[in-house]
Amino acid sequence: MKVVALFFCFISYLFALPDEFDRKLYNEGEKIFEAKCSSCHQKSIQMQTLLKNFLEEDNRTLKLLAPTGNQISFRLKSQIGSPDDREFHLMETADFLVEYVNNPNKSKSICLEGVVKHFDTMPSLKGKITEEEIRTVNHFLYFLEGFNGVNKYYHKEDAF
Ligand code: HEC
Repeated sequence: MKVVALFFCFISYLFALPDEFDRKLYNEGEKIFEAKCSSCHQKSIQMQTLLKNFLEEDNRTLKLLAPTGNQISFRLKSQIGSPDDREFHLMETADFLVEYVNNPNKSKSICLEGVVKHFDTMPSLKGKITEEEIRTVNHFLYFLEGFNGVNKYYHKEDAF
């Protein structure tokens, strides 16, 4: 029985993944994120903890240097483009990321003001990362949260 149950878990896990998800690209993107973003951006912290840290504790608890990967993931998907067509949405979010990483400017912020106000504008990574690498990071960030129950806050109003 256990084997059967496990098999069905596995199948439902597979089906939860959208067609556009590419495991290899995701893993590559994660490596690039670790090499080129994670000195400032932590990968993922629970949304409730983040919410408390930024909105109630003035970032004194976590002392983060930048919004986390899962915050960016959530905001990218909810603020940029239109999510109806995922293939197109992936391109739209990648275009935004390429533009932001090369020419950061808080006027283009996607995160809540209550989060971004804790930071100086991100330094440009122009010349330190290629466009292709940023697009690969986008694939990782896009799927970091919100699929396979990775992030139960996805589509929830109170998350950022
Ligand atoms: C030297 C530190 C540093 C590095 C390295 C860095 N960032 Fe940032 N990033 C920041 C800071 C600080 C902010 C918050 C201020 C801002 O929005 O510009 C930020 C903000 C952002 C935002 C916009 C968030 C918003 O709503 O304003 C995105 C998107 C982003 N970073 C992506 C990346 C990616 C992708 C990488 C790696 C390729 C990266 N960053 C590398 C410091 C960094």
